Amino acid sequence: MLDLLLTGISQLVTPHGAGLHRGASHGELFKLENAALGFQNGLIAWLGREADWTGEAKDTINLEGRAVIPGLIDPHTHAIWAGTRLTDFESRASGIGYENILAAGGGIRSTMKHTAEASLETLVHLALPRLEALIRSGATTIEVKSGYGFTLEAELKMLHAVRELQTRVQAQLEPTLLIHVPPKDRLERGAYLDMVVNELIPQAAVQKLATAVDVFVEREAFNVPETELILQSARANNLAIKLHVDQFHAIGGLELGIKYNALSVDHLEASGADQIKALSSSNTVGLILPGVTLHLGLPAAPARKLIDAGAAIAIGTDLNPGSSPVYSAQLALALAVRLNGLTPAEALVASTVNAAAALGLFDRGRLELGCRADVLVLEGADWREFAYKLGTNPVRQVFIAGLRYQP
Ligand code: NIG
Ligand code: FE
Repeated sequence: MLDLLLTGISQLVTPHGAGLHRGASHGELFKLENAALGFQNGLIAWLGREADWTGEAKDTINLEGRAVIPGLIDPHTHAIWAGTRLTDFESRASGIGYENILAAGGGIRSTMKHTAEASLETLVHLALPRLEALIRSGATTIEVKSGYGFTLEAELKMLHAVRELQTRVQAQLEPTLLIHVPPKDRLERGAYLDMVVNELIPQAAVQKLATAVDVFVEREAFNVPETELILQSARANNLAIKLHVDQFHAIGGLELGIKYNALSVDHLEASGADQIKALSSSNTVGLILPGVTLHLGLPAAPARKLIDAGAAIAIGTDLNPGSSPVYSAQLALALAVRLNGLTPAEALVASTVNAAAALGLFDRGRLELGCRADVLVLEGADWREFAYKLGTNPVRQVFIAGLRYQP
């Protein structure tokens, strides 16, 4: 007996098969019309044509001709921060660059100051509505990074905030330890790296506060040799690896990520032909963040070329106060179609099964028997509206592990 059966599904649309969808098969979707979908114990237990259903369910919801797709995975957020970046926003609007603001001690460093000063409870309180907004937009699994703490204590406080948030939101949260920017004083960089490698990463691993380590590899942040030290520690502590690379300059971060078998390399706005070639023949996901292209006016990551060369792409919101105040996983997907040249089908794969793989998760991001029952009921009958609509929410209902999301 099923716990719940959804009937009246105009179209059930989903990627098929776990793992990376890449190259020519990136946009392949399985589609079923007049479908029904059943849940049991939080998993998908039946799916097929409604006319073929003969079993019993404790509860039935008739969706009256609406489309159904898998819940989205948002594999890259900085959803925990204190303070605002509204003054930066005004400065940028009057022509001052993001990197210049950062180099002058503002930007990420100003958010670090406010975040380090805030209590754990304040951080939780500030992050909750951001995560709720992402869930309403269709995200059922959300990665959340630290990285605005800077000190040992403040970074661990951010990761404890993720742990606390997990008890308060229905979506699954995946915590990542982000080593974001070095001390401003060059002479303090070595001691900071020692702290990261010998204390912060081991403590995060022992306390199971993070599943992955991320580093911002950039001229204004960490260089390749520094990043490599951090990745060696991540590896020694059995944490997965992902990197912020090629956001403003391609300084070797992408190549280092591939060498360390990173789950994903994220941003890619400045990636060129060499990076496209290297990524396409690797098992690392190219994770694009179209909100940054929109908000900072950066070039779009070359996702079209990457897919054509055989790569696997995932999409994230990068929700953060400085480079991407994007509170909707659906909007990130819709922007990837406009800004990065993905087809709607490729974008759906990039926001579901490929985004799951970018977090090392293989039990979700697709509607198949035995997968987590993370499901979106759309407002309309044609799923393509999900990639088409801007500035409104095409999601009617969200189910997470079989339970209807109650805001
Ligand atoms: O993913 N580039 C580095 N980190 C973030 C931005 C953080 C911030 O501006 O506060 C990003 O874009
Ligand atoms: Fe980011």
